[in-house]
Amino acid sequence: MRQLRRYAGAALVTVLLLTGCPARDDGYRAGAADAGDPYVPGSGNGGYNVGDYRLRVRYDPATDRLTGQATVTATTTAKLSRFNLDLAGLTVDSVRVDGADARHRQDGAELVITPAHRLDSGRRFTVDVAYGGVPAPVTDGQLGSGGLLATADGAVALGQPVSASTWFPVNDHPSDKATYDIEVTVPDGLAALSNGVPKGRTSTGGWTTWRWVEATPMASYLTTLVIGDYRVETSTHAGKPMVTAVAAALPADGPAAASLARTGAVVDFLASRFGPYPFDSYGGIAIADDRIRYALETQSRPVYGPGFFRSGANGNVIAHELAHQWFGDSVSVARWSDIWLNEGFATYAEWLWEEHDGGRTAQRNAELQYAVTDWSRPSVDPGRSGLFGDAVYKRGALAVHALRRTVGDDTFFRILRGWVAERRGGNATTDDFVAYAEGVADRPLKPLLDAWLIGTGAPTPL
Ligand code: ARG
Ligand code: ZN
Repeated sequence: MRQLRRYAGAALVTVLLLTGCPARDDGYRAGAADAGDPYVPGSGNGGYNVGDYRLRVRYDPATDRLTGQATVTATTTAKLSRFNLDLAGLTVDSVRVDGADARHRQDGAELVITPAHRLDSGRRFTVDVAYGGVPAPVTDGQLGSGGLLATADGAVALGQPVSASTWFPVNDHPSDKATYDIEVTVPDGLAALSNGVPKGRTSTGGWTTWRWVEATPMASYLTTLVIGDYRVETSTHAGKPMVTAVAAALPADGPAAASLARTGAVVDFLASRFGPYPFDSYGGIAIADDRIRYALETQSRPVYGPGFFRSGANGNVIAHELAHQWFGDSVSVARWSDIWLNEGFATYAEWLWEEHDGGRTAQRNAELQYAVTDWSRPSVDPGRSGLFGDAVYKRGALAVHALRRTVGDDTFFRILRGWVAERRGGNATTDDFVAYAEGVADRPLKPLLDAWLIGTGAPTPL
């Protein structure tokens, strides 16, 4: 075999010499243009993993213009002749790789970078990108829109599964988590909120720069930028900074403010069930722009659309988004088809909170949900258009409850706490969860979870 390969190699070299082929294969390749996740074609890239994003952005609400300087520190996972970042709707002025000017071109939402020197595998490198323009959300017929949206008083960058690439160059897929150091410069008097620990602000020449540091790996869709007129409150909770902000357009003593004020109490309740809170800051942001019809578990500081507080205070949505800090943010999906691992647990956390708060029991919520569940739709691999559907949220929560009733409370909460501890800061799949649960319970659980997650008929009720 070895002999044969040597002959084949010699023959190939001969052919190349004879034909004078210039494409001598030295193993350097272009990194893939996406992460290979069929739910988000084009999103993410291959050939490297990002460790850190250092973002310096300036946003002027008078012109909707954003200018940015991003430093991306990454490590190659292959020999690269070139690689991509995702950037949608903004124009790149210059790119440097390890300080040297690099060739670049933009092809739709792909920024294609050819460094002056090719990159060996396993090598750390930095990419500096200077860019700017008027950001616009990206719209997807099935999933709605996501990304930086100009508002009456500023802007909100928010979205799932895609948002980040509308305001910075990014490997835009949850499988590549990274730390962030974000500075946002806005006109004096406006707030500029983001993820993580507040690192103060400085003003000069009519502009104020707010700095935020998220030192625990974060999936790109969990980044946010909220600029505008906000009542910002900074405090300390359980020894960590807590920043809550309520849009000035919402009443100071209204239901949004009252709901956000429960953040500490809700987070403590969830920590009593799931184990230690996984990040080093807390908070929440209530926005007034009703074009945003959802809340999102942006890391350490969820963003809530105004609709949740229309008919009074709402503890459930707070519990939902804060539960995601464990399920989704700390332990993240590796591919979007497993999104029930986020939404099923966050919905179940609403049921736990409701029971704790003196409302319906989790068992009652499960019974009500069981009666209306459409068993023809699976929780796992729900399809792109089903990403935020009941099969993911509600059927997913039912599967969590079924697990609890089957293994008992003690084992159930040991599974949950152990899972988020073991996978903290990383990524996981449905199979990983099933295998982990079976290990803790010391019994087969796949048949049960398959029946509740993907079976096409109603499972035996609980
Ligand atoms: N993950 C969010 C939540 O469950 C929902 C986001 C909905 N996104 C959307 N584009 N509609 O809290
Ligand atoms: Zn959710």
